[in-house]
Amino acid sequence: MASLSPLQRYRLGYEPKLPPILESPSCLIPHPKEGLEAINQDLRQQFPFTADQPVLTFQKGEQQPLRPLRVGVVLSGGQAPGGHNVIAGLFDALKKIHSNSTLIGFCNGANGIVKNQSIEITEDLLALYRNQGGFDLIGSGRTKIETPEQFEAAEKTVTRLSLDGLVVIGGDDSNTNAAVLAEYFKQSGVKTNVVGVPKTIDGDLKNDYIEVSFGFDTACKIYSEIIGNILKDALSAKKYYHFIKLMGRSASHIALECALQTHPNLTLISEEVADKQLSLKQIVGQIVAMICSRADNGCHYGVILVPEGMIEFIPEVKRLIQELNHLLAPGLPHARQLEQLEEHASQLAYLQKYLSESSIQCLLTLPGSIQRQLLLDRDPHGNVQVSKIETERLLIELVDQELRHLKLQERYKGTFNPQPQFCGYEGRSGLPSNFDCQYCYALGHVAALLLKAGVTGYMSCVKNLTQPVSEWEALGVPIYRMLCREMREGKQKTVIQKALVDLEAAPFQFFAQKREGWVGEDDYRCPGPIQFEGAIDITDSCPLSLSLEKSMARIH
Ligand code: FBP
Repeated sequence: MASLSPLQRYRLGYEPKLPPILESPSCLIPHPKEGLEAINQDLRQQFPFTADQPVLTFQKGEQQPLRPLRVGVVLSGGQAPGGHNVIAGLFDALKKIHSNSTLIGFCNGANGIVKNQSIEITEDLLALYRNQGGFDLIGSGRTKIETPEQFEAAEKTVTRLSLDGLVVIGGDDSNTNAAVLAEYFKQSGVKTNVVGVPKTIDGDLKNDYIEVSFGFDTACKIYSEIIGNILKDALSAKKYYHFIKLMGRSASHIALECALQTHPNLTLISEEVADKQLSLKQIVGQIVAMICSRADNGCHYGVILVPEGMIEFIPEVKRLIQELNHLLAPGLPHARQLEQLEEHASQLAYLQKYLSESSIQCLLTLPGSIQRQLLLDRDPHGNVQVSKIETERLLIELVDQELRHLKLQERYKGTFNPQPQFCGYEGRSGLPSNFDCQYCYALGHVAALLLKAGVTGYMSCVKNLTQPVSEWEALGVPIYRMLCREMREGKQKTVIQKALVDLEAAPFQFFAQKREGWVGEDDYRCPGPIQFEGAIDITDSCPLSLSLEKSMARIH
């Protein structure tokens, strides 16, 4: 364990509030929520044991004699602030259920389950991680339990450890995996029940039951602090255009939330790009028009937010990426042959023979550095690593070209000094906000209650999050209800659909009403650093997009 700063040490002592219903987990019994019919008839065959289960709430019931529970927990995928508090909530609830309950943490993601690498989580160990960022207590990883051998290995591990339950803290893929594992254990007569917890800073694990995934709030608050500071700097120096790429593999929830928090001059939203079928040229045109109109008013500075995943939403780039993924897939000779060609020009000439005319045109309009990233920076499946493409630099280069062109024609008289920025990893492991501390602590409690109830294939959910913690609702929802079939990498797969930004919903609509004004007015807003002490509206606020969604839902 590394040294702790005074603030880290202080946060160890923070006591997350719990909704009253979760305070005494030992006296709670599950209760089916009425009126929610099972769905997904087409998937029923794949989940014969776990499909027909009700959504559960919890009620005070008669105290039953309780036995100690042995539970495993795993963190899966990218870090998200609050993960340690899910573990703390789970641990505390298990101990309240029975003081001899045991919590075992699998090391470095699902690989720890497959390889049976684990540690016992004790009060003393956990005491150093309460309310802290990161996933370093047990680590995380992106291994998925997919192959028959991995399923067998997982079965061996949970049987050897005699686990009553396994809690999977992860995003859409990991929770889909949790549902499949729950079904597999049930079919194999293994006693281990599986419960998921919704995690991801991206905010795209969201549906009727999950209002927001944990970590989104803190990550957006950290990014918004940085953006607010950059806005102030831009306004003071009056000489730079900052192009800030914001993490979020696919959906633009983070970019939208940060725009609502900070009011930059322009924010691109990938879902709108796809909806309007905007080409790269049109996007560059939008930015150039903004820069020119500001230059006409004597402003040669500003801030532009760019979602990390946007490149894949631009129709012609999406087509190009699909063709490249197909062409350079492992098993085909092209990837190797391309690597053997040392000259970039020869690589382009090689591709010209295999890519469609429109994709070649698209590739040639991109700067050389981006072309290289597309061709050579590939994951083990041969896919383009979209999240690694420096979209902020791509836009800067294309905007610069266009402005130079306009300058020659005397249609632009400004100076363009761009600064590329990336807000990414620094948002994933920061000290969690009070909102995430409390939300995660409650999610851990609900996971323990579901395991105490002996159910499997459930997601721990907490709702009513825009209200005070005292009014939060605890739910157990069969993961099966969140599943659908979708084409992924050319194959039909059972998945939890990623929730993209809904262009009809209140957060985007509100942003769309305001953004015109932000182009010229410099209505910059500085949220400042996350506050842990003080007035509750400053310390315990939830994401603005969630408040907007709920307030509009109340109006309608
Ligand atoms: P999860 O979906 O696993 O929570 O991870 C999200 C994320 O942080 C994305 O925002 C980002 O694109 C990606 O992970 C980065 O992945 P890596 O950690 O492998 O670089």
